[in-house]
Amino acid sequence: MLQGQAAIVTGAAQGLGYAISKAYAADGMRVALLDIRGDLLDELAAEIRQAGGDPLPITVDLSDAGETQRAVDAALAHFGAPRVLVHNAALLITRSMREITLADWQMEINIILQAAFILSKAVWQPMIDAGGGSIVYLSSGSGYRGFIEEVAYNPGKHGIEGLMKCLALEGKEFNIAVNCATPGAPINTPMSAQNYTEALKQRWVDPALLTPAFLFLARQDAAGLTGHRVAARSDGSWDAINLL
Ligand SMILES: NC(=O)c1ccc[n+]([C@@H]2O[C@H](COP(=O)([O-])OP(=O)(O)OC[C@H]3O[C@@H](n4cnc5c(N)ncnc54)[C@H](O)[C@@H]3O)[C@@H](O)[C@H]2O)c1
Repeated sequence: MLQGQAAIVTGAAQGLGYAISKAYAADGMRVALLDIRGDLLDELAAEIRQAGGDPLPITVDLSDAGETQRAVDAALAHFGAPRVLVHNAALLITRSMREITLADWQMEINIILQAAFILSKAVWQPMIDAGGGSIVYLSSGSGYRGFIEEVAYNPGKHGIEGLMKCLALEGKEFNIAVNCATPGAPINTPMSAQNYTEALKQRWVDPALLTPAFLFLARQDAAGLTGHRVAARSDGSWDAINLL
């Protein structure tokens, strides 16, 4: 079912987004790869093309509203309505309330939450016109619990879960599934390398192991799973909690 269909994945250059993008391309999807790291995107696009895929790398700073709009417009112009949008990019600046600046706050909130809004709004009508689609936001334990020194990341992830719940309700009428996903295992990514304890690094896994849940989510519409937080496990399974 995914063969030949389009996906938009943000934060595609590294970490979990790289793994999701490769998994979608391996399943025959045409993937728009969005990230600020254009150098790494070109490498990923070359890998996908070598394997017979048809990717579209788009370098974009998702903290900037205009750039984000132009990037998603370019993806839509090239591929048409995506079967799935995965907003996976995020930035975690660990600073206390005494240290964090307004600029830090805006950067994190814009990448996590503002970009989620702009991207979702851009694909919403094309998905309606296409008869349905699936939107996935990467959440985190930080989407439902409090963590110290996550002054912007913590509310950003809470916000993305709120947007998910609202759009999942509205999406029912239009056959659009909207869900959040979290890593259900410690993953070996650049973000984790910066923030994990040594104990967690002892048992982190390749994020590629978590991708079956994202293939499942790409196939969803409102008749399937929507309004859930899906924890992707490293054995290829997942847990889903209904948040509606
Ligand atoms: N690593 C974990 O243990 C963990 C845990 C819970 C949730 N998550 C979430 O999973 C997702 C992926 O995490 P990860 O560990 O792969 O992160 P990562 O930092 O390793 O990768 C994030 C990607 O986003 C890109 N990015 C950052 N700022 C950007 C910007 N301004 N514009 C465009 N792209 C930008 C980066 O270049 C990078 O390719 C994130 O949403 C994160 O919050 C991760």
